[in-house]
Amino acid sequence: MTDKNLNRRHFLGTAGVAAAAGIIAGAKSVQAAEGNKKVKIIAVCGSHRKGKTTSTALQIALDSAKTVSPDIETELIELMDYKLEPAVPGGNAVDEYDKIGPKIADPAVGGIIFGSPVYFSNMTSMMKMFIEHFGPYKKSGALSNKVAGVLTVAGARNGGQEGVAQSITAALLGVEMIMVGDGRPTGHSGATLWNNGKDEAVKDNITKDEFGCATAKGLGKRVAEVALRMAKKS
Ligand SMILES: Cc1cc2nc3c(=O)[nH]c(=O)nc-3n(C[C@H](O)[C@H](O)[C@H](O)COP(=O)(O)O)c2cc1C
Repeated sequence: MTDKNLNRRHFLGTAGVAAAAGIIAGAKSVQAAEGNKKVKIIAVCGSHRKGKTTSTALQIALDSAKTVSPDIETELIELMDYKLEPAVPGGNAVDEYDKIGPKIADPAVGGIIFGSPVYFSNMTSMMKMFIEHFGPYKKSGALSNKVAGVLTVAGARNGGQEGVAQSITAALLGVEMIMVGDGRPTGHSGATLWNNGKDEAVKDNITKDEFGCATAKGLGKRVAEVALRMAKKS
């Protein structure tokens, strides 16, 4: 037997064991998406206020994602609907993460938009606690090759939106998500919105932030476009 054949046999054997153990779950998830024509985009809202500016902005992003193709379906998850506890190393938090985890890890999910208000120049504690449950995905690859985008809302025009987007992005790269920004024409690192708290006429009405809403639409579109492409090509 040639070296080439030996190497091939070794590779196939290793790949079989890895697949059985779920180590290449990322590849598996994309294959499943190919079988099912629909590609799901989920938006996760980390605001401590349900249905407010972050939630509205995420829905704008999801509505825009749907315009990309009739094969896109969407869902908005409000983290405030679930009881989350801090995740500890090697342990399982006793909370309701098991009601959200399977939803986002579902092979039909091609993209996830993470939305957080800016709290003290950071993501909210709710969003942080949610992401801190992702530890096992570093081994399982359950989120690998799913597309991700970040949407942030702050009370000031420059209230920390981009810093929060970068912080969330860094965490998601760690679980092998494919990061995208808001694309053309706004073209930055994600959706960045301004809930102008100083102006009573527009406060808490995020639809008044024209530029921010354009970034939300762009982000939704980018996530959908790339998720569809990933589902077809893999
Ligand atoms: C605890 C707390 C901290 C905040 N920190 C900031 C901040 O650092 N920078 C900023 O621009 N806005 C800050 N804000 C304002 C929120 O980001 C803004 O009101 C946002 O629209 C809230 O999102 P929601 O409507 O989804 O609740 C803070 C709000 C709260 C409640």
